[in-house]
Amino acid sequence: MNALTVFDPQSPQARAIFHLAIVAGIIFAAIFVIVAGMIVYALMRCRWREGEGDPKQIAGNKTVELVWTTIPCLIVVALFILSWKTMGAADPPPAPEPDIVITGHQWWWEARYPKSGVVTANEIHIPAGKALSIRLESADVLHEFWVPEIGRKMTTVPGHPNNIWIESDHPMTYLGVCSEFCGTEHAWMHFLVVAETPEQFQAWEQAQLTPAKTPTGGSATLGRALFQQTSCMNCHAINGTAATAGVGPDLTHFASRRILGAGVAENNRANLRSWLKNPQEVKPGVKMPNYKFTETELTQLTDYIETLQ
Ligand code: CUA
Repeated sequence: MNALTVFDPQSPQARAIFHLAIVAGIIFAAIFVIVAGMIVYALMRCRWREGEGDPKQIAGNKTVELVWTTIPCLIVVALFILSWKTMGAADPPPAPEPDIVITGHQWWWEARYPKSGVVTANEIHIPAGKALSIRLESADVLHEFWVPEIGRKMTTVPGHPNNIWIESDHPMTYLGVCSEFCGTEHAWMHFLVVAETPEQFQAWEQAQLTPAKTPTGGSATLGRALFQQTSCMNCHAINGTAATAGVGPDLTHFASRRILGAGVAENNRANLRSWLKNPQEVKPGVKMPNYKFTETELTQLTDYIETLQ
């Protein structure tokens, strides 16, 4: 997996930003070297020496003033043009219909694909080699969507959708984070962007669209009943069951995802069980309360949720 860096752009959008940063950095470094060099030169060359009187006093010099006004003006104009071009490449106007609508929640990400109807959480799949128009929304407070390798960062604002473009040159998995402080678990608001070949992406989309399979007997069946009898379905949705709420992540294909609790743990059986036992211990402050399930109930629920491939 790629590790959250601005120095390894993997899309035309991120490369445009990276190149602007490099060119601007070189210009700033040159200005620093020239200005600091001139100060050092002046300190050495013009210092007072034993036996010298006051130097000749000069007030105003049109040529010097013109030079030190014109050069910064030209630099600002050059930076403006470069920024303008970068904005055109990295942040074009949004498509009329977004490819993905991503909503920031305290403290997880919901991804909806309006064209297919897929709904998922914390693991955003995209086809590689295609620019995607993303609409960003918030369910509660300000968050900030950031996957530095494939696009710019953008704040999610309640009641005011923002738009960005993301793209991945090739199949690769990227780590994304929330980069705007948004409460207790801001630090655990990670997500993955999984760029795949168009065929793999299509297969993923098809798999996500199938309703959850109903387990046929055993502990998982009891877990399914438990899920629907307790408060689980007040917050979560599982396509193919009576659970349709959208407060917490959609769990229809939870077991197919790699991370748990927006990145706080790897998604495996042991971690899932710990989570169900007491989410507050795994991710203090998370909106999911501790239901104080018995060991038997924990096994049943874990068995059921593991079937949600
Ligand atoms: Cu969401 Cu920080």
